[in-house]
Amino acid sequence: MNTAPLRVALFGSGRIGQVHAHNIAQHPDLELAYIADPFIDGAQALAAATGGTARVVATAEEVFADTSLDAVVIGSPTNTHCDLIRAAVEHGVAALCEKPIDLDMARVRDCEAAISGTTTPVMMGFNRRFDPHFGAIKRRIEAGEIGALEQLSIVSRDPAPAPEAYIAVSGGIFRDMSIHDLDMARFFVPEIVSVFATGSNLHCDYIAAAGDFDSAVIVLRGERGEQITITNSRHAAYGYDQRLEAFGSEGMLAASNVAPTTVRKYTATTTEEADAYQPFFLERYAAAYRGELDALVATIRAGATPSPSFADGRLALALADACEESARTGRVVELS
Ligand SMILES: NC(=O)c1ccc[n+]([C@@H]2O[C@H](COP(=O)([O-])OP(=O)(O)OC[C@H]3O[C@@H](n4cnc5c(N)ncnc54)[C@H](O)[C@@H]3O)[C@@H](O)[C@H]2O)c1
Repeated sequence: MNTAPLRVALFGSGRIGQVHAHNIAQHPDLELAYIADPFIDGAQALAAATGGTARVVATAEEVFADTSLDAVVIGSPTNTHCDLIRAAVEHGVAALCEKPIDLDMARVRDCEAAISGTTTPVMMGFNRRFDPHFGAIKRRIEAGEIGALEQLSIVSRDPAPAPEAYIAVSGGIFRDMSIHDLDMARFFVPEIVSVFATGSNLHCDYIAAAGDFDSAVIVLRGERGEQITITNSRHAAYGYDQRLEAFGSEGMLAASNVAPTTVRKYTATTTEEADAYQPFFLERYAAAYRGELDALVATIRAGATPSPSFADGRLALALADACEESARTGRVVELS
C-alpha cells in the first residue's frame, strides 16, 4: 500500500480553515499542498503559520489543475460548498466538507444527484461525532452498558451571540447552530420520525430584528419511540455549554462540560469552585477536528464509505428545515 502523505488542498483560511490548516500540517499522513482563498493575504498568513510549504491560490481551478491531489478540505463559506464538492468529485478527489452542505435543500438535492454513484469519498465535517467524550458514550451504549436507549438529552449553548453580520446570513439558529446537535441526535438514533421545535427571543435584539431566534428547544422522536431533547441558546453567561446525557433501560451515561483542569477551590465563601469551561468550539472540539482528519485518511486509504456521509449532511439539514417549520407553525412535523 502507498503510504506517502495524502496531498490536501484547503479551501478557506477563516475561522475553521485555520483549525484545519494547522491540523493538516501536523498530521503525519497529510501534506498541506494548497490553501485556496480569494482573500490572498489571509491565505498567505495561514500558509506562513503552518510551515510555509502550502501553495497559496485564489481559485478552485488552480487547485484542481493539480492531478496529484488526494483530498480537499472545504472550509469556505456555506454557499461555496456544493460547487466545490461537485468539482472534487468530477476530478476524483476526496472531499471533507464543513457543515452545512448548503442552506437550501433544493441545491443539496441537485448536488447529491450530480455526485450520485461516485466512489470518490465525500465526508461531512460533523466534528462532534469524533469528540472523545461523545464517542465513548456511543461505544458504551453499543456495548450494552445502559441497556436499550430510551432518552437522549443534548444541551448546546454558545458563550455569546455571533456578530450581527454573521446572523444575517447564517440561515437561522436551526440550520446554523442546531444542525450540529441534530446530527448528534442521528449519531445515536439514526431514524428520526417526528420533530417539534419552539424558538424564542430572550436575549439578543439584533437576532430578533433578523427574524431569527436566540433560544430553541427541539423534541425529536426516534423510530422506536426514543425521545431526544435539544436545548440551544446563542449565549451562556458561564461559557460554552456542551453536555450530553443518554438514558437507557439499565442506566445512564453522561458527558459534562470540559474545563482546562479538574482543580476545585474551597474557601469560607465558596465550595467546588472550578476553572471556567473551554471558551468555545475551537478549544472544546480540538480533538474532534483532529479525529475527523484521521477518519478522512482511514477512509481514503481503505477505500471505505465515508461517515458522516453526504446523506448525513442532507438529513441533518432536513431536520433543521423541519425545526424551522415546527417553530413557525407550532405543529409537530412528521418525517417520511
Ligand atoms: N464544524 C464546525 O465546528 C464549524 C465551525 C465554524 C464554521 N464552520 C463552517 O465552516 C464554513 C466557514 O466558516 P468560517 O466561520 O470559517 O468562515 P470565515 O468567514 O471565518 O472564513 C471563510 C473564508 O473563506 C474564504 N472564501 C470565500 N469564498 C471562497 C472560495 N470560493 N474559495 C475558498 N475560500 C473562500 C473567505 O475569504 C474567508 O477567508 C461555514 O460553512 C461554517 O458553517 C464549521
